[in-house]
Amino acid sequence: MKVKIAILGCSGRMGRNLIQAAYEHENIELVGGSVRATSSFVGFDLGELSGIGTIGLKASTSLTALVSADVFIDFTSIETTLENIKWCQQNNKALVIGTTGFSHEQVQLIEESAKIIPVVLAPNTSVGVNLMFKLLEITAKAIGDHTDIEIFEAHHRFKKDAPSGTAMKMGQVIADVLDRDIDKVAVYGREGIMAERSKDTIGFATIRAGDIVGEHTAFFADLGERIEITHKASSRMTFALGAMRAALWLSETKAGFYDMQDVLGLKG
Ligand SMILES: NC(=O)c1ccc[n+]([C@@H]2O[C@H](COP(=O)([O-])OP(=O)(O)OC[C@H]3O[C@@H](n4cnc5c(N)ncnc54)[C@H](OP(=O)(O)O)[C@@H]3O)[C@@H](O)[C@H]2O)c1
Repeated sequence: MKVKIAILGCSGRMGRNLIQAAYEHENIELVGGSVRATSSFVGFDLGELSGIGTIGLKASTSLTALVSADVFIDFTSIETTLENIKWCQQNNKALVIGTTGFSHEQVQLIEESAKIIPVVLAPNTSVGVNLMFKLLEITAKAIGDHTDIEIFEAHHRFKKDAPSGTAMKMGQVIADVLDRDIDKVAVYGREGIMAERSKDTIGFATIRAGDIVGEHTAFFADLGERIEITHKASSRMTFALGAMRAALWLSETKAGFYDMQDVLGLKG
């Protein structure tokens, strides 16, 4: 039987990709999507929104209209997600949260709801990125203390923050394995004459150019050889497909607070 899914924030950049990913997935039945009550997209056909042609599902303004869904996927804003999770809790619905930027206190609120309903909180739903974190862990354990570790990332010209959140997380994963304090060992850019590289350093390098969706590489370099672990994203569809995977997994999972490492079976 297909898992019934609703997309919250379906007119957004991610929402439009999520509609397509859900509609085209063989194990998923898309039941609808939500937009703001004030949105100019109220009543729009979801297929028209995502560019796949008319599919006969209209963008609605209430979650109650989507109550037939088993799992809700939310890529909206912090305030909206925190409202949506209350509704999901009251209506016993599973929730995949792709929205980012929650404070520690807000994550605690989400964890409270996850005592009642199944919740995946996934600031990066790309399967490849989450697998890369695991590969970094394994590599750092095996050779991290004997190699020079550098992280490179590239993004499009419009990106405002640097290094990217994913690059920072890569550094954190490696530092945790090696029992280093990332705040003390991180070096963000180099220029001019400097002392020889310290062994404990984890370096970060960034470029911003054109329309690069997102590239990350970790170097573990020794004398005579090096390992490079690279992830390249070429479209937002990668995040949408990862969210589908999380939703399918969550549909068969009991109440609890989960992340993509749980979804992909990478813990332990
Ligand atoms: N987990 C991941 O892998 C991943 C990947 C990419 C992005 N993200 C995160 O996902 C979130 C959305 O990203 P985006 O790039 O898609 O942003 P976006 O284009 O701004 O989309 C957000 C959508 O949510 C809608 N929304 C806000 N409040 C709503 C409400 N009360 N009811 C219904 N819809 C509502 C917005 O509608 P209006 O336009 O009317 O305000 C907008 O269409 C961000 O937090 C982003 O950082 C996560």
